[in-house]
Amino acid sequence: MHVVVTGASGRLGRSVCAALVAAGHVVVGLDRSPAGLDGVDEIQLELTDEAAVARLLADTRPDAVIHLAGIAVPFSAPEREILLTNTSLAHTVLAAAARGGVARVLAASSPTVIGYGSPGWRAASVPIDERHALAPTNAYALSKVVIEDTVRMFSRTSNGAFGFFRPCYVVSPEEWAGAPTQQGHTMAERLTDPALAAVSLFNYVDARDAAEFVDAWLAAPAAAVDGEGFFVGAADSLAVRPVAELWRDFAPGLGEAAELLTGTQPVFDIGKAERRLGWAPTRSWRTELDEASVTSVTASVIRSHETRAS
Ligand SMILES: NC(=O)c1ccc[n+]([C@@H]2O[C@H](COP(=O)([O-])OP(=O)(O)OC[C@H]3O[C@@H](n4cnc5c(N)ncnc54)[C@H](O)[C@@H]3O)[C@@H](O)[C@H]2O)c1
Repeated sequence: MHVVVTGASGRLGRSVCAALVAAGHVVVGLDRSPAGLDGVDEIQLELTDEAAVARLLADTRPDAVIHLAGIAVPFSAPEREILLTNTSLAHTVLAAAARGGVARVLAASSPTVIGYGSPGWRAASVPIDERHALAPTNAYALSKVVIEDTVRMFSRTSNGAFGFFRPCYVVSPEEWAGAPTQQGHTMAERLTDPALAAVSLFNYVDARDAAEFVDAWLAAPAAAVDGEGFFVGAADSLAVRPVAELWRDFAPGLGEAAELLTGTQPVFDIGKAERRLGWAPTRSWRTELDEASVTSVTASVIRSHETRAS
C-alpha cells in the first residue's frame, strides 16, 4: 500500500514508519521537522496549512493515511491550544483524505478519553474495554473525544474506512535502552517506584507493538475497522508486583474489581484488536529492559515490599 503518516518524526511515528516500510508499504512521512527515517519519503509540512495538506493528498493519492500528529502530552501547552490544535489538525487531515477518496484512514486517540487517572475517577469495570464510558477531564482528553467523533462522522459520510486507536503510554526503543521518558524518569526508575509512573502504571505499550497494530489495521477487512476504535496496550502491566496488590496505593480509581485481575493481566483489555485484527503485542518490560535491569528492579521492589510488610 501507499501510506501517508502524519507526525512521522514523533515517538510513535518513527516506529510506525519503520514497521510499515518493513512490511513492504511505500511510506510518505509528513512532519514539520523531518527525522531522517530510513526508506521513508519525508516531506516537511505544516499541517495547519489546510490547502497544502489537501494539495499533498491530491498529488500523492495514497491508499491510506495514518494521522498521528498533534500535541501528544496533556498539559504540555495551554488547554485551549491543545484542544484547538489537536481537533483542527485531525479535521484538516481527515477531511482532505475523505475528499481525496482515501480508502483507509486511522487516527490516534488515547485511553485518557475515559478519564483514567484523574482525581475522583472510578472505573466502571475492570479490565477496561472499548465499551467503557467517556469522561474526559482535560483539554487533551477532550480533543481525543472530538477526534473519535470526527472519525465516526467521516466513516458515516465517505466511502473510505475510518477508524481510531487508543495507544496506551508509548515506550520507544530508546527509552527501554535508558533514555528519559516523557516525564523525565527512566523505565527502570518507573518500575522500581510505582509512584513515579502512577498514570501509566497499568497502561503502556511498546512503540513497535503499536506500529504493528497499525499494519494489522491496514490489512484487516474494511468492515472490521470502519467506525471502530481499539485499545492498544501491552499484555501485562508496567509493574513488578501484580495490579491486584497495587491498585489501592497507586490507582484507587480502579476499585476492588482490580483484585479480580490475575497475575500479570493488564488493566486495559486488548481482546478486541486480537479478535478483529489478529494483532497481539509481543514485547513487554520483561523482554525489552536488559537482563541486569530486570534483575535489579525486581530485587529492589521485592526488598522494599518486604521491608514495608515487616
Ligand atoms: N506517546 C504516548 O504515550 C501516546 C499515548 C496515547 C496517544 N498518543 C497519541 O499518538 C500520537 C503520536 O504521539 P507521539 O508520542 O508520537 O507524539 P510526538 O510529540 O512524539 O510526535 C508528534 C509529531 O507530530 C508533529 N507535529 C505536531 N504538530 C504538527 C503540525 N502542525 N504540523 C506538522 N507536524 C506536526 C511533531 O513535529 C511531532 O514529530 C499523538 O496523537 C498522541 O496524542 C500518544
